[in-house]
Amino acid sequence: MSVSAKIKSLTPPDISERKGKTPIVCLAAYTTPVARMIDAHCDLVLVGDSVGMVMHGLPNTLGVTMDMMEMHGKAVRRGIKQALMVVDMPFGSYEQSKEQAFENAARLMRTTECGAVKLEGGRAMAETIEFLVSRSIPVMAHVGLTPQSVNVFGGYKTQGTGNDADGIFDDAKAVQEAGAFSVVCEKIPDPLARRITKELEIPTIGIGASVHCDGQILVMDDLMGMFTEFRPKFVKRYALLGEKVEECARQYAEDVRARQFPAPEHVYDYAGD
Ligand code: KIV
Repeated sequence: MSVSAKIKSLTPPDISERKGKTPIVCLAAYTTPVARMIDAHCDLVLVGDSVGMVMHGLPNTLGVTMDMMEMHGKAVRRGIKQALMVVDMPFGSYEQSKEQAFENAARLMRTTECGAVKLEGGRAMAETIEFLVSRSIPVMAHVGLTPQSVNVFGGYKTQGTGNDADGIFDDAKAVQEAGAFSVVCEKIPDPLARRITKELEIPTIGIGASVHCDGQILVMDDLMGMFTEFRPKFVKRYALLGEKVEECARQYAEDVRARQFPAPEHVYDYAGD
């Protein structure tokens, strides 16, 4: 092992050790510039398969491929110095067998240099998680509303509001027993998220779940207000960048049509011009 002068990134054990301590800050991002801007503020940056909907205009995450995750993973890697980078395993890349999961998880770790992978599912995925963890692949689990199962759920409804609550609790327990270093709890009621957080020894990372989870995760584009049409209730927008982007394009179009572009005060002083 050689000594490196690089800044030390957080590791899965660092995240696990934060259980019950200061809340763990996580964001999902997909590009180098955004990763660069958020790295210093995050403990964990997820290259989420939400990239398919947010950046590629897909109707859900089911069409996301390994190639897409690899490409965005490599891009985010270039922008991250200190946060733990986790890459989502896309639909169809891990469910068939634990061997399939290992092959694809190893590929993501090798090519993107991420510190861990995330996959969706509870009890049904426990054996796979155990297989990966025992073969040097740290796994973040994801229970509750698992978006890759949107067709089974019949939409993006809150899960665990009825008889299914105990099942979600069992899912969270199962992924912990299997060796996951943390678990995302998506869109479940506050009391269930609190119960899971209280009973588990690994950190829970909430999204639309409870402020009492050990950490929170949101999609950076939601936070920035990049979309005008769609806004999950649990998202707090810190800016309305979508409107700003539209306004930039509108003003630019006006300038071009009025032959006002480039306006003298906006001409860049390129070296060598
Ligand atoms: O794909 C994603 O971005 C996610 C999180 C928001 C949890 O899975």
